Amino acid sequence: MSNLPYIVGNWKMNGSRAMLAEARAIDRAAARFPKVQVALAPPATLIIAMREAVQEIGVGGQDCHIEASGAFTGDVSAVMLRDAGADFTIVGHSERRALHGESDALVRAKAEAAQAAGLSVILCVGETEAQRDSGKAEDVVAGQLDGSLPRGDEVAAGLAVAYEPVWAIGTGRVPSVKDVRAMHKAIRTQLITIYGEAGSEVRILYGGSVNAKNAAKLLAIDEVGGALVGGASLVAEGFTAIIGAAGQSEEA
Ligand code: 13P
Repeated sequence: MSNLPYIVGNWKMNGSRAMLAEARAIDRAAARFPKVQVALAPPATLIIAMREAVQEIGVGGQDCHIEASGAFTGDVSAVMLRDAGADFTIVGHSERRALHGESDALVRAKAEAAQAAGLSVILCVGETEAQRDSGKAEDVVAGQLDGSLPRGDEVAAGLAVAYEPVWAIGTGRVPSVKDVRAMHKAIRTQLITIYGEAGSEVRILYGGSVNAKNAAKLLAIDEVGGALVGGASLVAEGFTAIIGAAGQSEEA
């Protein structure tokens, strides 16, 4: 996989066809930063239209079912995402884990189904505030990685991990540089333990209240290979500033 900084916008359950104008503006901005890999994960309803509207950036899903098709009302399979033009999908986002009761084993099955369908995967992990306060953050994330990373030959090549502390999502709070560095280092060590040398190529993104003001500082931290951005990815101007910060961290 590329070692360019990877800046991904997760639109969550936001976005209408009118917002394709933002995607087009983000696409134009991305063209000015060829040393940054940019992608958006819109709601499934917009994947086909967004894929047609943009040229430079990746387009992906936010989740997928483990089966290719069948009687699973309301679900979307990885095969369908691929057919719609998606390049990747997010799996294991904390909102899926918490609000849909997704286990590590299910997240792993989703990651493996996505890769089998030809999608790259962004696999999310992260501790709650109570877990961090009780000193268990690294243990919790290690357990999530152990249970949910895809296994098999060459799976590391199509994989990114997003560290998203649950308490930092949508709150305006971010962990200290020291805590981000320590967590990303721990994740790197575990990726190498699981995948061998290929584990050193997996990009580890930080997510949780990333915005135009704090992006440069977060992206400069060791082992932070990009950002998974929620709220600040919905408006092209703010997201473009984050892409620009990644472009500058690349030049530095
Ligand atoms: P915010 O950037 O809105 O905190 O969301 C982060 C996130 O959950 C991205 O997946």
